[in-house]
Amino acid sequence: MTARRPLIAGNWKMFKTGAEAVEFARRFVPLVAGAGDRDLMIAPAFTALEALAGELKGTPVALGAQNLHWELEGPFTGEISPRMLAAAGCRYVIIGHSERRQHFGETNESVARRTRAALQAGLAPILCVGETETERNAGGTFSVLDKHVRKGLKNFVANELGALVIAYEPVWAIGTGRTATRDQAQEAHAFIRSLVSNLFNAELAGAVRILYGGSVKPENISELMAMPDIDGALVGGASLNPDSFAKIALFA
Ligand code: 13P
Repeated sequence: MTARRPLIAGNWKMFKTGAEAVEFARRFVPLVAGAGDRDLMIAPAFTALEALAGELKGTPVALGAQNLHWELEGPFTGEISPRMLAAAGCRYVIIGHSERRQHFGETNESVARRTRAALQAGLAPILCVGETETERNAGGTFSVLDKHVRKGLKNFVANELGALVIAYEPVWAIGTGRTATRDQAQEAHAFIRSLVSNLFNAELAGAVRILYGGSVKPENISELMAMPDIDGALVGGASLNPDSFAKIALFA
């Protein structure tokens, strides 16, 4: 029913060396050879980007990064620029993951700067949003999502956001085995899509892909993907194993 092309993305977080990434790709790529009707992406650690790029070249699996700085270059020790990511073969970059918000001082303001930098470098930003368990229990889910989206996309106009992807990742579902129910996820996705429509326009809202993340597994991907506003998944733990990630990628 939906014209949006599904995107199944793996976030490897701080796992896998370059050699381990290559070994993964050699097993994974043949398993997903038939997945021509969907987009696939893997975001390894920075140190594995070049090695994985070599393995993924000419395959349907795209490369992504897990973060970027907003300047193209400069005296920013320890940072990686959008230009470097594009040159390393990245097509996507994850921005504002809850682990970065929680442990590394990421704010909605820095998220907006990184999103702009990604788009300017031709990278598709995957903007991560989502509430903590405390926020959900206090009835604050929609207001958190509203802030994350509104402030993360502050000062943009609709025609700058054609490549934007949004990932709804409830913090309480990440790495816990407690997936949001398909109804909880659908409700959040529908809220985000209507917010994009209000902030920008209906055309962008209809086109933007909204991924669900948080304990996605081969066993729950199909029921999530059956929901009208769930356009893909951002997968952590289950993307580290080629067989389980291939099962997710090949969801029916
Ligand atoms: P898990 O799939 O391990 O719950 O992680 C989700 C996530 O944080 C993806 O970005």
